[in-house]
Amino acid sequence: MTSVAIVTGASSGIGAATTRRLAAEGFHVLAAARRAERLTELVAEITAAGGQATAVTCDITSDESVARLAEAAAQAPGPVTLLVNNAGGARGLDPVESGSVADWQWMYDVNVLGTLRVTQALLPALEASGSGTIVVVSSTAGLTVYEGGGGYTAAKHAQTAIAGTLRLELCGRPLRVIEIDPGMVKTDEFGLVRFEGDEERAAAVYAGVPGPLVAEDVADCIAWCATRPEHVNIDRLVVRPRAQAAQHKVHRV
Ligand SMILES: NC(=O)c1ccc[n+]([C@@H]2O[C@H](COP(=O)([O-])OP(=O)(O)OC[C@H]3O[C@@H](n4cnc5c(N)ncnc54)[C@H](OP(=O)(O)O)[C@@H]3O)[C@@H](O)[C@H]2O)c1
Repeated sequence: MTSVAIVTGASSGIGAATTRRLAAEGFHVLAAARRAERLTELVAEITAAGGQATAVTCDITSDESVARLAEAAAQAPGPVTLLVNNAGGARGLDPVESGSVADWQWMYDVNVLGTLRVTQALLPALEASGSGTIVVVSSTAGLTVYEGGGGYTAAKHAQTAIAGTLRLELCGRPLRVIEIDPGMVKTDEFGLVRFEGDEERAAAVYAGVPGPLVAEDVADCIAWCATRPEHVNIDRLVVRPRAQAAQHKVHRV
């Protein structure tokens, strides 16, 4: 029977690439995000390529919306074996001294509480499958801090803490928890969301960097981790472009 995977934040970037990749690996993917049209287009593309996917409009900051995602998972044509908590992002690059509380609130709501809400809602189905995998897309920002990144690094550290805690708590049950920590990934919208649509500021992040990661690179890591034999748990995979030796050490030409 086809295994079902759920990917949040599937309407763009890493989530869309992961949805395509998992469908190519043979999963029936529930593609979840707020923008329904984008999901419909993605599902049409996957279906045309011979894959299986279903669009589920979902706002992970809403209990009701996430409950509907869990209902969709219950209706899906197979055991739910994989959840990819990918939806998230950054807002602002302000020092802690002057950072916007609203930006911090948004980052906490989406990255942290969104991951918590979706994971809680899908855990019973993942466990019932007999072999469930929970992926948390955190970030290298969840492992270190940088100036101006206070709100985002705080949220990503919290996501990293969720992954670690959950792995301890679920030990002994047929569930594994995988944390993916990407460095710089050149996606279309991450920078635009961070800088409120300012294309110049968004582009400056990647300016001159030879070979930043792209969404497909991260999707490749997620798919590899999630398709190891069930007794193998890749706890954490840190992936950066070669040009980024550390958060503060980026080679530009
Ligand atoms: N790009 C990077 O450099 C980088 C590096 C490390 C980690 N990451 C992490 O990787 C993940 C994906 O990043 P990305 O670069 O692919 O960014 P992106 O293109 O901006 O994608 C973010 C996704 O999250 C979804 N989303 C936002 N709020 C949501 C909500 N309330 N409910 C449901 N979905 C929501 C968005 O869809 P809708 O707007 O349609 O809801 C979108 O599909 C994020 O967690 C990010 O923090 C990114």
